[in-house]
Amino acid sequence: MGKEGMSKNFLWGCASAAYQIEGAFQEDGKGLSVWDNFARQAGKTFKGTSGDVAVDHYHRYKEDIALMAEMGLKAYRFSIAWTRILPQGSGKINEAGLLFYEHIIDCCCQHGIEPMVTLYHWDLPQALQNEYGGWESPRIVDDFVHYAEILFERFGGKVKYWITVNEQNIFTKFGWLTGMHPPGKFAEEKLFYQVNHHINLAHAKTVILFKQMVKNGKIGASFAYTPGYAFDCGPDNVSARQEYDEFENYWWLDVYAYGGYPKAAFQYLQSRKLIGKITEKEEKLLKAAAGKLDFIGINYYRSAVCEYNPPDGVMPYGKLNTTGKRGSEEIYGVPGLYKTPPNPYLKTTDWDWAIDANGLRYACREITSRYRLPIVISENGLGAFDKLEHGEVHDAYRIDYLRMHIEAVMKAYAEGCDIIGYCIWSFTDLLSWLNGYQKRYGLVYVDREEAEGASMVRYKKDSFYWYQKVIASNGEVL
Ligand code: BG6
Repeated sequence: MGKEGMSKNFLWGCASAAYQIEGAFQEDGKGLSVWDNFARQAGKTFKGTSGDVAVDHYHRYKEDIALMAEMGLKAYRFSIAWTRILPQGSGKINEAGLLFYEHIIDCCCQHGIEPMVTLYHWDLPQALQNEYGGWESPRIVDDFVHYAEILFERFGGKVKYWITVNEQNIFTKFGWLTGMHPPGKFAEEKLFYQVNHHINLAHAKTVILFKQMVKNGKIGASFAYTPGYAFDCGPDNVSARQEYDEFENYWWLDVYAYGGYPKAAFQYLQSRKLIGKITEKEEKLLKAAAGKLDFIGINYYRSAVCEYNPPDGVMPYGKLNTTGKRGSEEIYGVPGLYKTPPNPYLKTTDWDWAIDANGLRYACREITSRYRLPIVISENGLGAFDKLEHGEVHDAYRIDYLRMHIEAVMKAYAEGCDIIGYCIWSFTDLLSWLNGYQKRYGLVYVDREEAEGASMVRYKKDSFYWYQKVIASNGEVL
């Protein structure tokens, strides 16, 4: 069927985010982010873990990138901490911050690793949150674009692939609906949609600016895509799936790719006064940016099931499993529209995430049919408890997970999806925002646990050697 094998330029990669790996939260002029602040509040994160030290990548980046080179990685996706570049979010530029990322980029390039930069992976400068409520104010748009401009100016000649925002759907949902991420607001639906609109405008202006400043670059946004399957063919459940897609997926994807919100969902929200008017100028901007988008980044971890949710049914605020104790995740939904029960056909991880490789193929096919855009799988991986024994980690379960998902990517590619790259989350173990350090994703084990003070020594897991072979064979040896 279709194309034979992956393109020889396929970007076999790994991904990370600044707050989750760097540490050095107050070094070399860095300002504080909303996460530096949030993690300090009692009960917000698993066992009070923070990214203060994280896995000390700030001081060990050379060692980490040397390991990437040894693995044969073709691309490394990482995020830049806004607070290292502009400690107060705007105003004075911190040269030390720019230099840090310059070293990382140069180091990647020297090793033949394509750097892929995420501008925003959730660590908003606390100063902007204090000054005007961060994403809640339209003032954020120009501050974000200014921050992006500094980076395009400095790194536009070296970095080809750029991602504006990471998982807008996740950080806004957790920040304004479930209260689990900063700013920790609960059930603020109207604000949730307002914040999202501001982010969309910031994203759009950034894309337009990028196209003026970085001539040969490619830009996209990374979206946490959780495809939904109808519970069964009962008409109510089929409609529930349609609603789910409009509210959980297309609400963002349509804006990135078409420059407009899905109609039915928009009308529903407008009739409930949860969303305001979009001005003609804003509409034009969103459309112009959509026309210039180079790719969609998909972060894929699991699929969902959609079932009709009665008007007195579950709310969108269901709790997550943040401990690794199976069965503690709660179903969520929108009363009168849909809810997301477990899938009886699929096994789950210890954190209750359904394991569904075909969902990744399905996601790629959906993006291709609906938007006809190239795709970067910007995250995919397995969070698990790992055991270090005599300097080795035998993570066969992770290899199985990755093998199935890469097979799905290759199938989608053969079926005509224009997939440019695939990034495993993550290269080293790192801090999982709400789940501490015990939920490990890395191909490289880091000796650290919830309490500070461990050695931070890196150990290559079995999955490291396995991915090394996958890359060397361009996906032939799985
Ligand atoms: C994505 C994020 O949501 O998934 C990452 O972009 C995150 O930052 C990853 O770590 C895995 O999620 P979690 O909650 O298991 O860490």
